[in-house]
Amino acid sequence: MENKTVYLNGRYLPLNEARVSVLDRGFLFGDGVYEVIPSYSGHLFHFDKHMERLDRSLSGIRLGNPFPYAQWLEILTPLLDPALDQYVYLQVTRGSAEKRDHAFPKQIRPTVFAMSSAIVPLPGQNSGVRAMTMPDGRWQLCHIKAITLLANILYRQEAVEKDCTEAILVRGDHVTEGAASNVFAVVDGVLVTPPKSHELLPGITRDVLLEIAERNHISYREDSISLETLKSADEIWLTSSTREIMPVVELDSAPIGGGKPGPVWATMNRLFQNYKQSLR
Ligand code: PDD
Repeated sequence: MENKTVYLNGRYLPLNEARVSVLDRGFLFGDGVYEVIPSYSGHLFHFDKHMERLDRSLSGIRLGNPFPYAQWLEILTPLLDPALDQYVYLQVTRGSAEKRDHAFPKQIRPTVFAMSSAIVPLPGQNSGVRAMTMPDGRWQLCHIKAITLLANILYRQEAVEKDCTEAILVRGDHVTEGAASNVFAVVDGVLVTPPKSHELLPGITRDVLLEIAERNHISYREDSISLETLKSADEIWLTSSTREIMPVVELDSAPIGGGKPGPVWATMNRLFQNYKQSLR
């Protein structure tokens, strides 16, 4: 195991010395939230947007933010390497109680953990990946970036076992998101992504792409995407902080857009890479 320095409850220490109690509510109940923030050459990408989402996730589970944004920045900065592209993972749980009880304990301090890891591009990151659709059986609180990810990992694992990179989830007849990504489709020349709701995580990459589309006069729409529309889309992309914009070239064993990344993806990816460079 790589023995990098991590942050835990006010201390920086080697990863293999970082310990939390077995009574931590994150461990017992998945009672916590997290963030994943890319860092390009040591600059946190849209730090404020990630902090605002952290605030919303924390209030969604009725937990106060333990720190103001400036203090978060102070905590995370020593974990960053200016020579690398990385992502910071941070997690806040409700903390460690004296006994296991579903209801919130009265006196409790949150557990705060953060670490950074290198961003390693996936095979197919630019040449396209396979995906499969699956019924979305998750709860109605998917807008909270909760550490409780059992459904997501089961979907992703099933996809991996079928030689796919991602599971695209479908609730009723409409697409929600990927197991760990948001979904975009190009339909009749228009970029479409499902609107924000309790059914999906409001991805920061998603928001940044819509802003780039707006600035560059690329027509887009936040609208529901039916399974049928997805299957006949000219292009499908998956977006996330760690995977950026990944083109899907095969869905449920059928080719998408002739089995190659499409022209709208090529344009958007170029604009996104230029935008990233401009923030370094
Ligand atoms: N996941 N939807 C889900 C369910 C996700 O887990 C993620 C990201 C996204 C994309 O959000 P963003 O663009 O803010 O990364 C959408 C992260 C990367 C993870 O869990 O590791």
